[in-house]
Amino acid sequence: MCGIVGYVGAHNASDYLLDGLKRLEYRGYDSAGMAVLTPDGYRLARKTGRVSNLATAVQSAPMPGRVGISHTRWATHGGVTEANAHPHISSDGVFAIVHNGVIENYANMKNFLLQKGYTFSSQTDTEALVNLIAYHYAKEPENNGKNRFVESVRKALLHVQGTYGIAVLCKDHPGEIVAARKGSPLIIGLGDNENLIASDASALALKTSRVIYLKDGELALVSDRSHRVITTDDETVQTVVHQIEIGLEEYELGDFRHYMEKEIFEQPTALHNAMRGRFSDDSSTARFGGLNIDPHELRQIDRILLCACGTAWHACLVTEYLIEKYARIPVEVEYASEFRYRNSPLDKNTLVVVISQSGETIDTLAALREAKRKGFKVMAITNVVGSTIAREVDGGVYQHAGPEIGVASTKAFTSQVLIGAMIALYLGRLRDMSYSDGVAFVEALKMTPDLVSEVLNISDKIHAIAKNYAHYEDFLFLGRQNMFPIALEGALKLKEISYVHAEGYPAAEMKHGPIALVSEKCPSLFLVTDGEIFSKTLSNIQEVKARKGKVIVIASDCCEFPDGLVDDLIQIPSCHDAIQPVIASIPVQLLSYYIAVERGCDVDKPRNLAKSVTVE
Ligand code: AGP
Ligand code: GLU
Repeated sequence: MCGIVGYVGAHNASDYLLDGLKRLEYRGYDSAGMAVLTPDGYRLARKTGRVSNLATAVQSAPMPGRVGISHTRWATHGGVTEANAHPHISSDGVFAIVHNGVIENYANMKNFLLQKGYTFSSQTDTEALVNLIAYHYAKEPENNGKNRFVESVRKALLHVQGTYGIAVLCKDHPGEIVAARKGSPLIIGLGDNENLIASDASALALKTSRVIYLKDGELALVSDRSHRVITTDDETVQTVVHQIEIGLEEYELGDFRHYMEKEIFEQPTALHNAMRGRFSDDSSTARFGGLNIDPHELRQIDRILLCACGTAWHACLVTEYLIEKYARIPVEVEYASEFRYRNSPLDKNTLVVVISQSGETIDTLAALREAKRKGFKVMAITNVVGSTIAREVDGGVYQHAGPEIGVASTKAFTSQVLIGAMIALYLGRLRDMSYSDGVAFVEALKMTPDLVSEVLNISDKIHAIAKNYAHYEDFLFLGRQNMFPIALEGALKLKEISYVHAEGYPAAEMKHGPIALVSEKCPSLFLVTDGEIFSKTLSNIQEVKARKGKVIVIASDCCEFPDGLVDDLIQIPSCHDAIQPVIASIPVQLLSYYIAVERGCDVDKPRNLAKSVTVE
């Protein structure tokens, strides 16, 4: 979802602005642009499509200048056109802005400004803001001891309803950038005789590892050698500089064709990192350094609410199953976007846990704020250190999965599921789980990376199967109990990167409607594990076969099937049921990846999607 980069310093801004945008491409966008402030005014370049289109335009018409802003847009107001691409210049030519978010009251703003003589050249909400800033600037007295540029932005923002992350230039303040945020992430990178603004740290990979995280309601005035932060109420903010680790290699593709492929194959390492240093000395339970909630308090918890979006919501479903089975605590799973408006009745001993890879998903952020507003303890499982969600919860667990660039979540998902299992173990051992069961659970967790590697080793077989299914336009994913969330995740993976219509269901639900979809044109993928429900799932497979539906089965290698029943069988290692969802996720990810590649889809940047959904 959109990317913002700003640069002010000793170098040519356009080089840094382009490089930063390229590192933010994974966030998802549909157009890109940049503005550099030169002694002759603004130089502007805007292109629909990829950042490479913008780079070509800038190379053919260089933009010399040492202060600039750039943007990748994910359209909310106005179509995908060059005129709607950012940056937007105020109609008096004084200001340039880039914006991430949605200005809900832009229409009223626009009508007011039109009456004041301001003109508009785009359909965006953003252009109303840049003209409103210009309006306040024209009214702001000079030499009254305040920075006129900052005051104009601050006063304009007081009228904004909605969300923003912005970077603004002013023609009369050539060495300064004003940045501000409310609901959309923004950080300041502190360099040597240069400073940067960015949506997230990946844009800073080459320049600095010293950052300041802007908080909602804060504005920053940044020049090449200084920075100052205030609130929209004009209160001074004491800034904290964080040193972050940005391993360049983590952002490189290496020998892989796509980041999604790289991240699928990184899962053994990511899962190791999720567990590193997180088992008790007697190896009978998990331990976490940042929960910030003591065991006594955890023993009082009588209900857990899990909130997330998309794939992270599927991780919640797996975690629900494991906590209820191993800690015997009732768990409810809610879509964050629903919870934030539902006013769910929760009792005082409810623990709220949000799961978010990016730590910036606006619906999940709003859900945690709603829970905190009502006095609940909120924890997070998140992958991005210093993300907004990480900084606003009471405690939580970092995934340490490394940057996930592919829009379709893979290593972050299995890392969330594994951490969910570790939390179930930890809570279980605070209650009724025995020492021996705890030891067995820990042993299973420790085996997970190696079992994942075993499945990755049959990727060629899975690729061959994928080729036989790449032409289908409809797919059913079916599983029971702890496999049902993986059925949902498989359907989402296939949907989001290959644009195939895919639905996930509990296998037994087939008979209540979805079986009407079964035909030679709609194959079904079953996720099957041994145990008491194996025979039931077998019946479901037979029901599909009886209706000429092709069947792929991903099954524990101890499961046996009648000859001819299964068209394509993918066997996975039998294992402790707490880690079955992680293991079963691997062939599901590979299958969707290879089908998307066969269909020639843009796997890492699927149409319409964004890596971090920071608009509602
Ligand atoms: C996952 O494949 C999707 N890209 C999407 O559903 C994602 O899981 C969702 O937007 C939540 O993102 P988060 O984990 O960063 O909050
Ligand atoms: N609402 C703005 C637009 O539609 C910004 C969207 C974004 O976050 O990229 O241009």
